Amino acid sequence: MLVGLKEILDMAEAGGFAVPAFNVYNMETVMGIVEAAEEAKAPVIIQSYSRLFTNKEGYYVSPIVLAAAKAASVPICFHLDHGAGKAEATKALRWGATGIMIDKSACELDENIAYTKDIVEMCGAVGVAVEGEIGHVGSVNDESMGEFTTVDEAKTYVDATGVAALAILVGTAHGRYKKKPNLDIQRIADIHSAVSAHLVLHGGSGVPDDQIQAAVKAGIRKINFGTDVCYSFLDKVFETSRDLIAIDLFMKDAIENVKKFGLEKIRLLGAENKA
Ligand code: 13P
Repeated sequence: MLVGLKEILDMAEAGGFAVPAFNVYNMETVMGIVEAAEEAKAPVIIQSYSRLFTNKEGYYVSPIVLAAAKAASVPICFHLDHGAGKAEATKALRWGATGIMIDKSACELDENIAYTKDIVEMCGAVGVAVEGEIGHVGSVNDESMGEFTTVDEAKTYVDATGVAALAILVGTAHGRYKKKPNLDIQRIADIHSAVSAHLVLHGGSGVPDDQIQAAVKAGIRKINFGTDVCYSFLDKVFETSRDLIAIDLFMKDAIENVKKFGLEKIRLLGAENKA
């Protein structure tokens, strides 16, 4: 069933687990994730990067996600990831998103708050909850990681904007890590007890299992996986024999590998049998 962002994260808070949020790009990645969620009886978030909404892909992928979510027996939220601005957020709403992230974390706090507040108001008018970000989660290729999110900043931002979910910088980055990340678990626990918004961890690919589990225990309720969805799909595509011409048959193993990856993360986050 298709559900909203707040609803699915409220389930995670009540159950003490985290909902995996998988970045999808095409029908096959959606199929792999939905099959994993069904098999594990788990709630999941299916999300797409803002770029897919700036360009055309979102127009084609959104109806696929919505059809799959509505037909599923488990709760599925369709979310805009790292929304760049009002245009992408508006398009995502029109194309049926049930969660919107707005990312102005590279701006000064005041500007981030003002922009986010506006989006929360707009999305609130159609009953859709918003994820914001404070403390900029960058890429593994950045020179430095930047200042970790503080409890005070997080509280000021959540109180001023009314976001339902909050992405925080506590030691992760987007992409394939060059060296092992080291998450600030105590900081997660401190922010969790100070703010009402559900906490989100970006850059989930490649974070060691024990750190993921500690983060969930400390209060993270949504963990994003992007890069490793791509690798699970593409690794199989590159291995698949070129003698297979029919595209549906060519894609079978790649879909299966995305499903396998999805199942691993659902189990790691404690989301299995939580639907
Ligand atoms: P990774 O690509 O590092 O898994 O990060 C995904 C993400 O955080 C999407 O917002």
